[in-house]
Amino acid sequence: MFHSLYFASAYSHLLQSLRGTGNSGCDMNNSNNNVCIITGGGSGIGRSTAVLFAKLGATAIIVDVDDSAGQETVRMANECGGSSVFFHADISQEQDVSRLKDEVIARYSCINTLVNNAAIMRFSKVVDLSVEDWDAVMAVNIRGTFLMCKHFIPLIKKGSIINVSSVHSRSTAANVSAYAASKGAVESFSRALSIECEAIDVRVNCVIPGSVDTKMLWDNPNLKSGDEVVSGKIASPEDIAEIIYFISSDKAKAVTGSSIVVDNGLLSRLG
Ligand SMILES: NC(=O)c1ccc[n+]([C@@H]2O[C@H](COP(=O)([O-])OP(=O)(O)OC[C@H]3O[C@@H](n4cnc5c(N)ncnc54)[C@H](O)[C@@H]3O)[C@@H](O)[C@H]2O)c1
Repeated sequence: MFHSLYFASAYSHLLQSLRGTGNSGCDMNNSNNNVCIITGGGSGIGRSTAVLFAKLGATAIIVDVDDSAGQETVRMANECGGSSVFFHADISQEQDVSRLKDEVIARYSCINTLVNNAAIMRFSKVVDLSVEDWDAVMAVNIRGTFLMCKHFIPLIKKGSIINVSSVHSRSTAANVSAYAASKGAVESFSRALSIECEAIDVRVNCVIPGSVDTKMLWDNPNLKSGDEVVSGKIASPEDIAEIIYFISSDKAKAVTGSSIVVDNGLLSRLG
């Protein structure tokens, strides 16, 4: 279990010491040589993560199926400095992920951080859920995470993978069975992968956001219909990005195989 007091103190120390410096990077002597790939970087948590990494001196490689959203994130990230780039890829398709890897290798010798953040939701009772919708959710949320890890782990030098799951992996609602199952899979996949990656000095962790103020939250028809209500505080995408950055940094070098809940206490409350 992640100890909250330790976390708060280590995190505040990190923020003081890391602002504007980036982490160790592929080349330990070059603080600006920190390359991070973020899937779903065109929106919400992915966009905020890309902008934060760029602000802190990293190169953000933004991957998305939405080209104009991805290009907009590049513009925002580059306004903060650095030289972030966008690549179109559908992470559920192995040929896209393989081409992406070739494009990344052509520009960068290695990467430091892989943030598997892209995901989709489909809403329906299990008896009404089409096989196509079930497969679509699994293809992006868990197969996409697997494909990105499979192709990019060989490029990660002494770095870290952060997979974005959800509180739905632990506690959920009606009509989101495929999403909840995929996010549970992301969490257990991360745990298993962390063991395999110990030998190559790559840490693997999972972030478990609660309610976050993004398109995905407000598009939820359960909320629109009143079947579900947002309980407690809503985090900003920047709140989640800060935790992702912390976990990627050397300050979290002892953290691997963990799931870090960032939910404003949602999972701790009864009802
Ligand atoms: N918003 C929340 O309340 C919340 C809560 C818990 C977990 N999460 C998780 O956080 C992550 C980010 O969610 P968000 O709220 O920022 O969502 P979002 O919908 O704002 O952004 C998701 C991005 O992923 C991209 N994407 C979708 N399918 C893709 C594919 N096949 N290949 C590449 N890119 C693809 C979309 O184009 C979009 O830019 C997701 O993993 C989500 O499950 C979100």
